[in-house]
Amino acid sequence: MTRNSNQVGVGIVGCGNISGAYFRGLERFDGLEIVGCTDLSAELARAAGERYGVRVFDSVEALAADGAADILVNLTPPLAHESVTRALLATGKHVFTEKPLTASFATAAPLVAEARERGVLFGSAPDTFLGSAGQTARAAVDDGLIGEVIGASAFVTHSKAELWHPDPTFLFQAGGGPALDMGPYYIAALVNLLGPLASVYASARIGSPVRPVSTPDRRVESIDVTIPTHASATLNFASGAIGTVLASFDVWDHKLPFIELYGSKGTLSVPDPNNYDDAVTVHLHGEDGWRPLPPVIGGFTEGVLDELLPLRGPGVADLAGALNGEPFRTSAGFALHVLEVLDAIANGTDGVHTLTTTCERPAPSTETWTSATAKETANA
Ligand SMILES: NC(=O)c1ccc[n+]([C@@H]2O[C@H](COP(=O)([O-])OP(=O)(O)OC[C@H]3O[C@@H](n4cnc5c(N)ncnc54)[C@H](O)[C@@H]3O)[C@@H](O)[C@H]2O)c1
Repeated sequence: MTRNSNQVGVGIVGCGNISGAYFRGLERFDGLEIVGCTDLSAELARAAGERYGVRVFDSVEALAADGAADILVNLTPPLAHESVTRALLATGKHVFTEKPLTASFATAAPLVAEARERGVLFGSAPDTFLGSAGQTARAAVDDGLIGEVIGASAFVTHSKAELWHPDPTFLFQAGGGPALDMGPYYIAALVNLLGPLASVYASARIGSPVRPVSTPDRRVESIDVTIPTHASATLNFASGAIGTVLASFDVWDHKLPFIELYGSKGTLSVPDPNNYDDAVTVHLHGEDGWRPLPPVIGGFTEGVLDELLPLRGPGVADLAGALNGEPFRTSAGFALHVLEVLDAIANGTDGVHTLTTTCERPAPSTETWTSATAKETANA
């Protein structure tokens, strides 16, 4: 494997379910080179190394000591994010972590401070708002297409993990739940569109205390639910916009949208924020119906792994761009604000929770990919 001096070396830590979407997704960026991987499971690391042609290391420290990695990417489970990210930061490398930043706001804040003290960049998923849907919606808001944004809604509803996952226990314990699992995509999308929040009011409860697992290849018969699985929240944005959020594992069927913004001139419908490139539609007052908006950037982030998972990588490329002085849109500071909101939604608030963090809206990313151009775009 050859690596030219302009390339940024990436080490993968955690070779589980999502890792293929990174191994395959990062291949698309000319500016990035995966230089190694590691996992607590030597077998998983070896399998990933063979499958993707990447060197395998037996520990984070060995991966860092090799010297080829500039950025270490944390793809471990949410409850491990805190300890693994701390270990990665201790190597002096730049760090990008999967979402959520950690399993709680309280554990994440010190890591953001530590990265700052060490002078390394620390970034976090979700990065899907960098895709053409997030950027097209952002341009529509910034251009005033729907006028003043008065309200927003987001519906984080996915249930039924116990119908297909052999052991979804982790989703119903600390670090899981609808807000922390899928909520990051929705709240990051809203903060990208509307800016930071001032306060949150949320109510949360456990739906069913015991969930039977019915998938034929189940490893457990039932799950004792120990965290809230149904939450409803009011989001007060600093801009004055008021958001309504439902985050639930107890909604079995619905006809709800993903995200909508309600403006003085019309409504903007934002597609599934777990994807990068679906269509954004608008219905302005006086127009006959909904119409799609032309994407403001190309859909080069398209691509799926095993016909299911969207390929990942724009956030790592964003961090690599920031090493060259470009805007850092997926910074941990942004993710920390998102996590403080998610924490409040996940657990409910005792009265109004005034946020202790804030953030800048990430810069629009029309030029994100000039430093780490997607290969298919470059080759088109
Ligand atoms: N699976 C998905 O569809 C998906 C999608 C988007 C984001 N994510 C996020 O990606 C992250 C990983 O999810 P996953 O589904 O791949 O989990 P997973 O359990 O399949 O894989 C995690 C891997 O991390 C390894 N690991 C744990 N601790 C480690 C350590 N200290 N050092 C090295 N390796 C360690 C485990 O051995 C395991 O192989 C989570 O934060 C999740 O929220 C997952």
